[in-house]
Amino acid sequence: MSILAALKNSNVIPQKYRTMSKEELEQKVIDAKEKWGTRLFIPAHHYQKDEVVKFADATGDSLQLAQISAANKEAEFIVFCGVHFMAETADILTTESQKVYLPDMRAGCSMADMADIHQTGRAWDKLQELFGDTILPLTYVNSTAAIKAFVGKHGGATVTSSNAEKMVKWAFEQKERILFLPDQHLGRNTAFTLGIGLDEMAVWNPIDNTIEYDGDYAKIKVILWKGHCSVHENFTVQNVIDTRNQYPNMKIIVHPECCREVVELADLAGSTNYILKAIESAELGSEWAIGTEMNLVNRIIENHPDKKIISLNPNMCPCMTMNRIDLPHLVWCLDTLEDDKHIIKVDKLTASKAIFALEKMLNYA
Ligand code: 13P
Ligand code: SF4
Repeated sequence: MSILAALKNSNVIPQKYRTMSKEELEQKVIDAKEKWGTRLFIPAHHYQKDEVVKFADATGDSLQLAQISAANKEAEFIVFCGVHFMAETADILTTESQKVYLPDMRAGCSMADMADIHQTGRAWDKLQELFGDTILPLTYVNSTAAIKAFVGKHGGATVTSSNAEKMVKWAFEQKERILFLPDQHLGRNTAFTLGIGLDEMAVWNPIDNTIEYDGDYAKIKVILWKGHCSVHENFTVQNVIDTRNQYPNMKIIVHPECCREVVELADLAGSTNYILKAIESAELGSEWAIGTEMNLVNRIIENHPDKKIISLNPNMCPCMTMNRIDLPHLVWCLDTLEDDKHIIKVDKLTASKAIFALEKMLNYA
């Protein structure tokens, strides 16, 4: 690539967007929305910053955003305010003529990065040797398109935090065992809720290429990929104990990406949308400690002055990768819709297999 082409394709935001006032930036979003009308659609995940959510045409949890993407046949430009795997999913679920954009290409997900396709292939070969054709792969949507394609190719499906129970139940109707990628906590929490014992769950270590399990392998029903969310791992049992001591009437609600011990001690656990709905329908004056990402927790606090709401961990920060999408990046993306700078495009072969896994989820859950 020539230096000129490289500069043109550079993903460093031009300085002018950094120096524009908030009012100028907001006006530019308003103008773009007016200019493109229904040709432009801006979905945003609940973890996005307020300055971005303010301009979203739809907000939702991962399942809702996948459903919304699949249903939208009208918009030509889908500016996805979320992280990379969500934009990839939207691209797979939309038509050839629709283009999906991610305002900052660096908005990845540390959990999705914990499983790559080569590690997955190696794990699968070893697990087939150990267990034969008894395993169905399931992947949390927080994974690369290549892993979704792998799962689709092997008859499995994607899951989100709001349909994981349904999908795990479905998986056990197909095969004796499941391999659950890449979030060990969502996998463990879901399987446990469905009555599978912790002693029936093994952990797959993708770094050492080994299975972590003490006992007779014949007993294993669930193989959990050793991945986790670097945001939700910061909610601890000590946070629960401190909250219970300080606020005896407070209910604790957490995301199932938190570890088993925290979910076990919490009163409720569910997806970001589940958390939102639970607080919305809670009694006036009720008290809540929430164990999820801080942009969402702060928004819930702001929208519910009639309730006492805190973060389960008082020292929590937002998800750093979700936070990469800010107003300047949104405006930069809207200004450059007609070049390829921010386009997320999953190659046809990968998309054609990943869609099997996604459609199984969308049709079933
Ligand atoms: P949900 O919105 O589906 O609960 O997912 C949370 C999440 O971590 C997305 O990255
Ligand atoms: Fe990934 Fe965790 Fe951030 Fe969600 S909150 S995008 S799982 S790092």
